[in-house]
Amino acid sequence: MPKAELGSTYWNNRYISGKTGWDLGEASPAIVAYFASQRNKDAKILIPGCGNAHEAEALIQLGFTNITLIDISEELVSTLQSRFAKNDSIHVELGDFFEFSGTFDVVIEQTFFCAIDPALRSKYVHKMHQLLNKGGKIVGLMFNREFPDGPPFGGTQKEYKTLFSGKFNTKMDECKRSISARLGSELWVQFDKI
Ligand SMILES: C[S@@+](CC[C@H](N)C(=O)[O-])C[C@H]1O[C@@H](n2cnc3c(N)ncnc32)[C@H](O)[C@@H]1O
Repeated sequence: MPKAELGSTYWNNRYISGKTGWDLGEASPAIVAYFASQRNKDAKILIPGCGNAHEAEALIQLGFTNITLIDISEELVSTLQSRFAKNDSIHVELGDFFEFSGTFDVVIEQTFFCAIDPALRSKYVHKMHQLLNKGGKIVGLMFNREFPDGPPFGGTQKEYKTLFSGKFNTKMDECKRSISARLGSELWVQFDKI
């Protein structure tokens, strides 16, 4: 699918028509387990392409205090803005990740990389590097398989190594806590900014 078709109109229509098959209906267990082990509850956390923000809800339950969500779908974001209006720990932004600016300690990856046009992957790496503070990192889940008719487009461990090396130290392992439908096809990743 060409890039022009994967803009705000495309994603907005997916939310309006309820075609959100990627939505787990809960936070990804691997992400919850990782953050449950983290002590710095004031870390500045960004969740790009946040969708229905299940991970943000889980982070709040775990005591995290500084979470920014960004998504390109106006339909989705207006819902999230109402939902989190009284929560000072969550900031919700409408916009394109590639145009976004800010500085963060941690970025959570959860079916965002696989949803963007594959031609934008180098730009994604560059943008992540810009958005992260010194010592910052990307953590989360990435597919270790490709899909012919994306989104999601998926990807491979080999490709990620090539893409992220130079800007990030990469650690990738088969994810043991994937939901059953994705078991064996996801990597737990941690990319530390160089
Ligand atoms: C496959 S969905 C995943 C949503 C969520 N992370 C989840 O796992 O439930 C991809 C999300 O990225 C958003 N998105 C796509 N391109 C974007 C962009 N350039 N900037 C910000 N958000 C974008 C879409 O609106 C959608 O919510």
